[in-house]
Amino acid sequence: MSVNTFRTMMSRDPRNDKFDFFSTPPLTTLALLSRKKFGEKVWENACGDGAISKLLWDAGYKVFSTDIKDYGYEHQNDDDLDFLQVSQIAKAHDIVTNPPYNSHIKWIDKSLEFARRYVALLFPLVYLTPKNKRDFITNVCGFELLVIGWRSKFIVPGATKPGGMKDYAWFVWDKEKKAEKSFKTTIVEKSDVEAFANRSRTGRRVI
Ligand SMILES: C[S@@+](CC[C@H](N)C(=O)[O-])C[C@H]1O[C@@H](n2cnc3c(N)ncnc32)[C@H](O)[C@@H]1O
Repeated sequence: MSVNTFRTMMSRDPRNDKFDFFSTPPLTTLALLSRKKFGEKVWENACGDGAISKLLWDAGYKVFSTDIKDYGYEHQNDDDLDFLQVSQIAKAHDIVTNPPYNSHIKWIDKSLEFARRYVALLFPLVYLTPKNKRDFITNVCGFELLVIGWRSKFIVPGATKPGGMKDYAWFVWDKEKKAEKSFKTTIVEKSDVEAFANRSRTGRRVI
């Protein structure tokens, strides 16, 4: 590994955090909320410091927030829940999160198993490049890709500069739709999301 590669990795996550915590920027979450409507109950199953949960609440959802660790989110329902070890749960919630990337395949599998209907996970777009992974992701049930049309800046606590110099997208599955009939891609423009955010701030219900 070159010194530069090593430096880049270290600036992204100097903590070497095995739980892969970083907080999702609000506009990135609003990109999803401006485009998708979920059932009334949503599970943020890797809630971190509540960055996504808070916006889900603001949008009117009943949010169940869990994480394997406590990052200080005051409305966290469980701060010691390893989602990958969950074996039984009522399938009453749609699932929305930016999950740990080091276990993303398992996360997709389990989320699809335990979600009521929708699963929305934020991933680097490059996850769709390898053919076998793309097939696994897109062939399971109805799939929609909401591409974030700008570079999101993720701040890792303690990092010297923002990470996230990648292209991201919300990967959204609908268990009630058949895969081959519904693959859809949308590029979400920053200006549209900012307008959506302004409408929310002025108190108009947006969802
Ligand atoms: C990329 S961070 C995202 C945090 C939050 N979802 C957000 O978007 O701001 C990933 C989160 O996954 C949590 N996590 C990692 N492994 C987990 C597991 N097995 N079960 C539950 N949470 C886990 C970490 O503690 C961390 O908070």
